[in-house]
Amino acid sequence: MIRSVLRQLLVLGIGGILAGGAQAAGDIAAGKSKFATCAGCHAIPGYTNAYPTYHVPRLGGQHADYIIAALKAYQSGERKHPTMHANAFSLDEQAMQDISAYLASFPAAAAPYPVQGDATAGKAKSVTCAACHGADGNGNISLYPRLAGQHQDYLRKALGDYQSGARKNPIMGGMAKPLSSQDVADLASYFASQPKGLVTVQQE
Ligand code: HEC
Ligand code: HEC
Repeated sequence: MIRSVLRQLLVLGIGGILAGGAQAAGDIAAGKSKFATCAGCHAIPGYTNAYPTYHVPRLGGQHADYIIAALKAYQSGERKHPTMHANAFSLDEQAMQDISAYLASFPAAAAPYPVQGDATAGKAKSVTCAACHGADGNGNISLYPRLAGQHQDYLRKALGDYQSGARKNPIMGGMAKPLSSQDVADLASYFASQPKGLVTVQQE
């Protein structure tokens, strides 16, 4: 009995290691070609979601692990967005690895983006965010999204979705709930205006 449980654990353990090993890291060149279907929205500067209207998020320079987590959340429907569900639906693990490696490989923005609103007030309010997202929104924990240089209206939309529960995440739900609409606006201005931020993918 004990021996068979041990054997099972051993098999599971080795299986896990093999599965991990077989999962080759993403291939940037393959990711670039697999991103072709995404480019119609994500590689066009200023492109917006139709309704409600907000800029499609910048993905160039975003952390690979976060991109994979986001794609899986759209795939499962945990994160609700019909177009992104359709686009993520058929991606297999390798495609997600390749695409995320490609996106993460973009260099940071050369100059900060101009923003509206009160970024200085946002800086003062961002202290609690820094532990995970970095003081300037360029944190280096791969599972936590970079916020620097992200579109201001997209950041507001994301925070509003956490507040309403439309986007479910236990950590961010807790962080977003106490924010006033002024806090949301100020924080979005601050992170959107930070240097060395995300870029819109350019596919030549
Ligand atoms: C029709 C336009 C459209 C297409 C095509 C599209 N996307 Fe998106 N994508 C969006 C919009 C809009 C959002 C923001 C949705 C939301 O509010 O959650 C988004 C969000 C994302 C996010 C989450 C970003 C973040 O910061 O959380 C990732 C990752 C992403 N898309 C990757 C892809 C990939 C990979 C493809 C191709 C397989 C793709 N998208 C195709 C419109 C599109
Ligand atoms: C304990 C860690 C932690 C803290 C503190 C934190 N966040 Fe987050 N944040 C996360 C994680 C994890 C995600 C991704 C959640 C998901 O998958 O939806 C995230 C996602 C986000 C997003 C969505 C980004 C995108 O690309 O869609 C925004 C905006 C955001 N956080 C803003 C903030 C702000 C503003 C604060 C401070 C008030 C804050 N966060 C504090 C961990 C944290």
